Formats: sequence, C-alpha cells, structure tokens
Amino acid sequence: MSIGRRVLITGATGAIGGALAEAYAAPGVELHLHGRNQVKLAAVAERCAALGATVLTQRFDVRDTPALRAWLDDVCATQAPDLVVVNAGMNTNIGPAGEGEPWEEVEALLDTNLKATMAIVLAILPAMRRRGRGQIALVSSLAGYFGLPVTPAYCASKAGVKAYGEALRGWLGPEGIQVNVIMPGYVESPMCDAMPGPKPFLWQPARAAKYIRRGLERNSARISFPFPLNLGTWFLAVLPAAVSLRILALLGYRG
Ligand SMILES: NC(=O)c1ccc[n+]([C@@H]2O[C@H](COP(=O)([O-])OP(=O)(O)OC[C@H]3O[C@@H](n4cnc5c(N)ncnc54)[C@H](OP(=O)(O)O)[C@@H]3O)[C@@H](O)[C@H]2O)c1
Repeated sequence: MSIGRRVLITGATGAIGGALAEAYAAPGVELHLHGRNQVKLAAVAERCAALGATVLTQRFDVRDTPALRAWLDDVCATQAPDLVVVNAGMNTNIGPAGEGEPWEEVEALLDTNLKATMAIVLAILPAMRRRGRGQIALVSSLAGYFGLPVTPAYCASKAGVKAYGEALRGWLGPEGIQVNVIMPGYVESPMCDAMPGPKPFLWQPARAAKYIRRGLERNSARISFPFPLNLGTWFLAVLPAAVSLRILALLGYRG
C-alpha cells in the first residue's frame, strides 16, 4: 500500500503529532492536521507546506463528537485516508501530595484519550472498509503495560487504547485494514514535562516520529520505544503485581 498519500493526524499541534506531520510532509502528500491551538496549528501547517505537502487544517475539541464526525465525514467523502494517526491526548496525575485526580479531570481524560479514539475509528471505518484498505495508528503509551501510581487514569486510558487497537487489528486485518498500536516512552513535550516522576531515556519528538513512521511502514502491530524502557515496562506487566509495585517504588514512581 502507498503510505502517506492522504494522512490524517489528530493532535498535530503537539510535540509528537507535529513531528509526525513533518515526517510525512512531502510533495504529493495531502495532510489533514487537527489541533485546538490556532497559532500552533498554523505554524505546523506552514512547516509542512514548506516541505511540499498539501495541508488542510481543522480545529475542534475531540470531545465534541458531532464536530469530530462532521470533519471525518467530510474528509472521507471522496475517499478514506491512507493513514489515520489518532494521537491527541492529555494527562492528569494525583498531585504533589497524592491528593488524587479530580473527577472532572478524569472524565475529560477518558473522553479525550479513550472515547474520542473510538469515535474517530468508528467514523472513518465505513469509508475505509468500502475502500478495502487503509491504516489506523492509535497512540497508546508504555504506561499502558502496567499502572503507574502517580497517573492512574492516564494508565487506564492508555491500556484501553492498547487493548482496543489489538482487537481492531485482529478484526480488520483480514479486510486489508492495518491497525497499529504506538507505545512511546518519554518524549519531550508539554505533557511529558508536566508528568511527575523520573523520565529515563527521554527522546526528542523528531526521533520518535522517525521511529513511528518506520514501524507503520512495516505494519508492526506494536510500535514501542525506547527498547530498554519497553522491556522494563513489559516485564512489569509479566511479573506478579506486588513485585512490580515494589520495583516502581524503588525507582521513584511512588504515589
Ligand atoms: N510525550 C510523551 O512522553 C508521551 C509518552 C507516551 C504517550 N504519549 C502520547 O502521545 C500523544 C501526543 O502527546 P504529546 O507528548 O505530543 O503531548 P502534547 O505536546 O501535549 O500534545 C497533545 C496534543 O493533543 C491535543 N489535545 C489534547 N486534548 C485535546 C482535546 N480535548 N481536543 C483536541 N485536541 C486535544 C493537543 O491540542 P492543542 O495543544 O491544540 O490543545 C495537542 O495537539 C498523546 O496521546 C500522549 O498520551 C506521549
């Protein structure tokens, strides 16, 4: 399949989404970039256009399901995109003294990270299935392997995205629709900066985007990085939970 002909990215105003947009920007590529921040969206669109891509932008909150559906119906009216990267996301944490996550934040997080992801998939699926091909990349996190005490709701949402993507891959693969789960470790971004706890093996967004693009071209089921953190977090899920929690506490990821 010719990856990159029509590429749609949500959260393109962010660090990873913006770097991905630039990684795909080239002559002959139609980029559909989404975000909320007008200034950042215009800036990333300009950079991608300078690289030769045709760029179309859309601003809305992904929790606004009617707006989301209207946009995706419009994009799919001619033909489903070749690649859809569901990347927009947010984080919360339990606070500096372990106070807990306010319900309003938990609800916003689940609506953004999990429900909107499913809404996007369901909105593009009919056109992609009609076409009989396409690729959907869901951005989860290494935090989806095992719950970190400082970010319970975030870990739950990303575990949900991971499971959803794996299930979709099994369901839709035989129809020619490729589904990939992206599990980044720490990547320099406003969201990452706001997260408490140590951030080992921090990558820059451009490096992450290059790695993700390569993984998508290979149609890897799981695109997880960096290797040492991937192995470590994977082990947390395999070990008895009591042992994993002890390891996390020793590493400074206490509640
Ligand atoms: N950075 C990391 O270490 C890391 C690690 C693992 C997974 N991830 C995942 O990677 C993805 C991108 O994160 P990032 O690190 O690039 O963070 P970021 O720079 O903070 O970007 C977040 C993006 O999501 C958009 N967004 C958030 N809430 C939204 C909403 N309700 N409606 C519409 N757009 C919304 C933001 O749009 P505006 O800025 O325009 O509001 C922005 O484009 C997220 O799903 C995140 O969970 C990141």
